[in-house]
Amino acid sequence: MPDQIKIVEVGPRDGLQNEKQFVPSEIKLLFIDKLISAGLKNIEATSFVSPKWVPQLADNDLILSALLVNETYQDISFPVLVPNVKGLELAITHSAQQVAIFTAASETFNQKNINCSIDESFSRFKEMLPLIQKHNLKVRGYVSCALGCPYEGKINPRAVLEVTEKLFKLGCEEVSIGDTIGVGTPKQAYDLFDLLKEHVPVDKLAMHFHDTYGQAIANIYAVLELGIKTIDSSTAGLGGCPYAKGASGNVATEEVIYLLNGMGLQTGVDLDKLIEAGLYITDYLGISPRSKVTLAKKGAL
Ligand code: HMG
Ligand code: MG
Repeated sequence: MPDQIKIVEVGPRDGLQNEKQFVPSEIKLLFIDKLISAGLKNIEATSFVSPKWVPQLADNDLILSALLVNETYQDISFPVLVPNVKGLELAITHSAQQVAIFTAASETFNQKNINCSIDESFSRFKEMLPLIQKHNLKVRGYVSCALGCPYEGKINPRAVLEVTEKLFKLGCEEVSIGDTIGVGTPKQAYDLFDLLKEHVPVDKLAMHFHDTYGQAIANIYAVLELGIKTIDSSTAGLGGCPYAKGASGNVATEEVIYLLNGMGLQTGVDLDKLIEAGLYITDYLGISPRSKVTLAKKGAL
């Protein structure tokens, strides 16, 4: 078990991208401010994808600029998702220092999500490299549909390994393995990460679980046992990909912190403040909290 855990909060990006109702930029910024007050240090702020494909994040320029000029946020990382050179150029215009590129272990999902094959997605990434190097950007990679695909069903772990290795070869400093539709179970998750661990640096792998079938916390526990120390999660359990139908939210950060506190693992996150941040965004959206920890602590169960 690792003793220090890195949480990558994806609520402002993965969480909000799936919400139909447009959340005004000032609400997004206040939400992020509350996440920072709770102690989160790595916050995926937005994505520079096509606003036609994900209208919720069309204010990416405003969000990133506002975060980067705030002097009190100097020690916080704000990676942003970029699918192609166009998105990368826009992110750089707004002073991004960290970007995340994303592809999948499933051909069909990749087509639906970014309108290209897996190979084409790597050609796009190669086109991005000169700019990434020129601006000395840190790059995270994502592999979606690692434990199942909404279109192809079962995914061969070797396909996940192949894509993961390619992302590291391109220069990714970290690769996050995504159970995009939340179908994976702990044994499957353990076996996949065990395979990956044999071929790529264990301290550069991250886990990204959605909770559709209620397996996310169990999956995290299983993968922690392999020494993986980076966990993606979304406050209030919001999230999903608009191009992966039927998937529910990411694992709630509240649940992850509760689990890690119970294991005596350090995160630097204040659970009570985090719950307040989650309630802030669910109140705004007019939905009830999905985090069981929040419901229990608020006496709502
Ligand atoms: P396309 O329609 O094939 O793009 O979309 P295109 O290159 O043909 O361009 C069409 C138009 O879009 C052009 O404008 C471009 O300039 C513009 P027009 O000439 O028509 O006026 N355009 C852009 N505008 C702004 N920003 C850009 C951009 N690129 C082109 N970056 C594209 C291809 C990749 C853009 C599209 O498919 C897309 O944006 N997809 C993103 C979908 C998405 O965001 N999905 C969710 C994120 S992934 C996820 O959630 C999974 C994850 O959480 C891990 C897990 O859970 O597994 C990461
Ligand atoms: Mg996701």
